[in-house]
Amino acid sequence: MRTQRPTTLGEFLVENQENFPYATGELTQLLSSIRLAAKVVNREINKAGLADILGLSGAENIQGENQMKLDVFANDTFLRTLRSMGEVCGVASEELEDFIVFDDELHNESKYVVLMDPLDGSSNVDVNVSVGTIFSIYRRITPIGSPVKLEDFLQPGHKQVAAGYVIYGSSTMLVFTTGHGVHGFTLDPSIGTFCLSHPNMRFPERGQIYSINEGNYIHFPEGVKRYLKFCQELDPPSGRPYTSRYIGSLVSDVHRNMIKGGIYIYPTGTMSPKGKLRLLYECNPLAFIVEQAGGRATDGFTRILDLQPTELHQRVPYFVGSTAMVLEAESFLRSDHNE
Ligand code: AHG
Ligand code: MN
Ligand code: MN
Repeated sequence: MRTQRPTTLGEFLVENQENFPYATGELTQLLSSIRLAAKVVNREINKAGLADILGLSGAENIQGENQMKLDVFANDTFLRTLRSMGEVCGVASEELEDFIVFDDELHNESKYVVLMDPLDGSSNVDVNVSVGTIFSIYRRITPIGSPVKLEDFLQPGHKQVAAGYVIYGSSTMLVFTTGHGVHGFTLDPSIGTFCLSHPNMRFPERGQIYSINEGNYIHFPEGVKRYLKFCQELDPPSGRPYTSRYIGSLVSDVHRNMIKGGIYIYPTGTMSPKGKLRLLYECNPLAFIVEQAGGRATDGFTRILDLQPTELHQRVPYFVGSTAMVLEAESFLRSDHNE
């Protein structure tokens, strides 16, 4: 039997370049830079547990001053890699208060901005649980040739030209969309190459999984509480009670639900009146991917990709996953609202 060599990410990018918006090759190059930074971050995450026993990262330092936190490392790695190429004129990151302008002749000529959560779920690193990187790419709206401005970053999610995530899990994957479906690549560590393993990923229309931090239950809106009771009710024909699965790493929770079918919710709460997740770095990029895979992403009432951002670190409630399940959850919120 003839076994076919898998398509590498590099090959896929070249072969599909005409599918990319504007197809000038710059977006291909930009995704290649992200691929490179992901490999560097992956290497570092993989040896996270070795730091103490090998004395890496200045572990002797009692104040821990030399020990770079992995989210800072990931942030610096992506920033450095993006700056070293000429496709990006500015970056906004969950780790930085303000956006960064790559203000020089070369970068001012470029047309893309990148927004990112360099390490999502970082509290999971210490316990060897999956974490991720989320990225979102837009065309600038200010004129080429000038330094990038805040308005270039505050665009609604439906303007994204590409978005993706890396999941550093039991294997490392890079999953992305340019608006032509969602494709997943698994890193083959023996050759250091991402290989196409999940072409055209699709969210099942519905599933059996609900993912929410139930420890916050008493703070949730009534509609969410009632939806959770619905998830837990016995109704064999519709597969209820559903299974509860919550990793606490958004990328991993959404990735699992995309493959198995399910819903992820991070609602408003009395503790976090606007929700916890960030519109620009977490919700928008994942919403673009989820919609491209046939799923649904809203704040409970409005499509995430239609929200007009007003500030870089804006938070929103998030209902994301299998379309039928998100619609069901929304109906509980609406009846709450109409009472
Ligand atoms: P980050 O590590 O980038 O700050 O993100 C953590 C986020 C997200 O990954 C996860 O789903 C959520 O926070 C978990 O929050 P709770 O601990 O409140 O459940
Ligand atoms: Mn995050
Ligand atoms: Mn983060």
